[in-house]
Amino acid sequence: MVNGVQKEILDRWNIDKAKELYGINNWSAGYFDINQKGEVILTADTRDGKKEISLIDIISGIKERGFDMPLLLRIENFLDSQLTSIHESFKSAIEKFKYKNQYRGVYPIKVNQQQQIIEEITRFGSKYHHGLEAGSKAELIVALSMIDDKDACIICNGYKDESFIDLGLFAIKLGYKCFFVLEMSNELDLIMNRAKIHKIKPNIGVRIKLTTKAGGLWAESGGDRSLFGLTTAQIIETIDKLKEYKMLNCLKLLHYHIGSQIPNIRDIRLGVAEACRFYAELVQEGAPMGYLDLGGGLAVDYDGSKTNFPSSCNYSLKEYCEDLIEIIISTLEEKEVPHPVLITESGRATVAYYSILLFNVIDINRFDPPKVPDKIPDNSNEMLQNIFEVYKSLNLKNIQECYNDALYYKDELHQLFKIGQITLREKALGENIFWNIMVQIVKSSIKLKQKPIELEGMEDALSDIYYCNFSLFQSLPDSWAINQLFPIMPIHKLNLQPSRQAILADITCDSDGKIKKFIDLHDVRNTLPVHEVDDNEDYYLGVFLVGAYQETLGDLHNLFGDTNVLTIRINDDGTFDFDRELEGDSISDVLSYVEYDIKDLSVRFRQSAEKCVKEGIISGADRRKIMQLFDEVLRGYTYFL
Ligand SMILES: Cc1ncc(COP(=O)(O)O)c(C=O)c1O
Repeated sequence: MVNGVQKEILDRWNIDKAKELYGINNWSAGYFDINQKGEVILTADTRDGKKEISLIDIISGIKERGFDMPLLLRIENFLDSQLTSIHESFKSAIEKFKYKNQYRGVYPIKVNQQQQIIEEITRFGSKYHHGLEAGSKAELIVALSMIDDKDACIICNGYKDESFIDLGLFAIKLGYKCFFVLEMSNELDLIMNRAKIHKIKPNIGVRIKLTTKAGGLWAESGGDRSLFGLTTAQIIETIDKLKEYKMLNCLKLLHYHIGSQIPNIRDIRLGVAEACRFYAELVQEGAPMGYLDLGGGLAVDYDGSKTNFPSSCNYSLKEYCEDLIEIIISTLEEKEVPHPVLITESGRATVAYYSILLFNVIDINRFDPPKVPDKIPDNSNEMLQNIFEVYKSLNLKNIQECYNDALYYKDELHQLFKIGQITLREKALGENIFWNIMVQIVKSSIKLKQKPIELEGMEDALSDIYYCNFSLFQSLPDSWAINQLFPIMPIHKLNLQPSRQAILADITCDSDGKIKKFIDLHDVRNTLPVHEVDDNEDYYLGVFLVGAYQETLGDLHNLFGDTNVLTIRINDDGTFDFDRELEGDSISDVLSYVEYDIKDLSVRFRQSAEKCVKEGIISGADRRKIMQLFDEVLRGYTYFL
């Protein structure tokens, strides 16, 4: 039996409770944890064992060096680690099932195309011959300049014009393993034409439209009506054309992509099985083939629930690799087709863990209605007296009734105010009483076995708003555009129990600039548990797993620009280096992106100020001060300082 004292000890807040509340061990893939001081730490495997760095220590270091929040923190070790995991998992699956060919990974540049990421992927990935996927001429330029390793593949997807094709053909001449994947059947004529002119034999691949559709937020990327890829009839047309050109021996690769973040392993299995049937048929048509490219889709478990929920996945990396290899073997061996080089284009799984968005809370709108007085004046309006009675009589048994009555009297008071029957002060008192009733109802309803349906979601209406120093549109566009969930949590004070529930608002003045959905193991939370914050206290939150797509898709809403970016590497001895620093956009940067001439802006403002001097509104010295401030702000960071 657990007695009262023991229960109290068990109930007491501790670090394990914090880990459980934010689910950090479920979604962190071992890269993040909480230390005994209640701070979120990075944990990296180094040659000298596991090393831990507190995010708060990193923030102190950054601030000392004059960097401000918000900040995108990149951890190079995690990128290397993810590449290693993907390659080692495929290697184990290949050995386990005795697959008679190799795995080659390619990273799709569009997922996060920043130079330092591509540099690290090609540098560290060269030991695995990790290649790149390019979907445009610009991305092909990146791939050709960054890849040194001629065993790494360059996969050219996307629409290709003459110069794209010429560049790819010359890459082949230079010895790159560069493939043109046909997205549309009419691309073939152009490729053949350019190949003939340059006398270079192209490596051709076909992207197929699979019937298989993957569930999740990107389901539209797959299925018969997907935007990209060739239909079965177009594939036949392509084969016939290649035979006509006597160039069927150029057809070497089959590619498909049924969507990003595929949460259900069943869809992955169905997709690869269907693709293998196409592959076997192409071999039987006489194409040499040799490469099977399964595209992206390997999911990241953002909420840590290990389910087929869109923010999660019901499989591990090991299962993903083993299932793919097993199905390829069984489908192709049936038709006696040799095992191809297996390519995947995992973007999200490669880079998601690499970046964290860190920001400070700049203001709080607490939901704390002022206390209700013990008595209200005897001559108060009847409706005011009624709502006060409801407040006094509220108990566990009459929750529902009090809820209905309170709503009714609040509406009545509102009507009375409109026709001038009660004063502003009486209206304010009535509303205070109403919100106090709601707070009491929410507190009491926790104790109810069955909560009245009307009370569902009531906690959300009573939550605080924590105003945070970031732009959702710039730094977390998928949260706004497709309601993607990311793990979010305070990065310190976790030795204390969070006592408030909040939604997060950004500093754009857009009503969509808020986060009001948070990860949960069994559901989606409508509020985030956060700490009470004193005035002048720094309080930091982190949004984790933001390395994929967020930087690429971000935009300049309200002219908030790129954040400061800092890349660190955790050393074997547990120290860390600030590897690369990128200063975020200044106000003059973002203004020039939207075509302002900065000098012209200064001139215009100076002329306005000079006019005021002439009219005697300000002095010449005032003008100098104002212009100094103008220039300083222009050169400064776009975020809250
Ligand atoms: C053709 C292609 N390959 C690969 C990817 C990357 O997918 P993921 O990030 O899910 O690995 C994408 C993105 O949607 C894609 O369009």
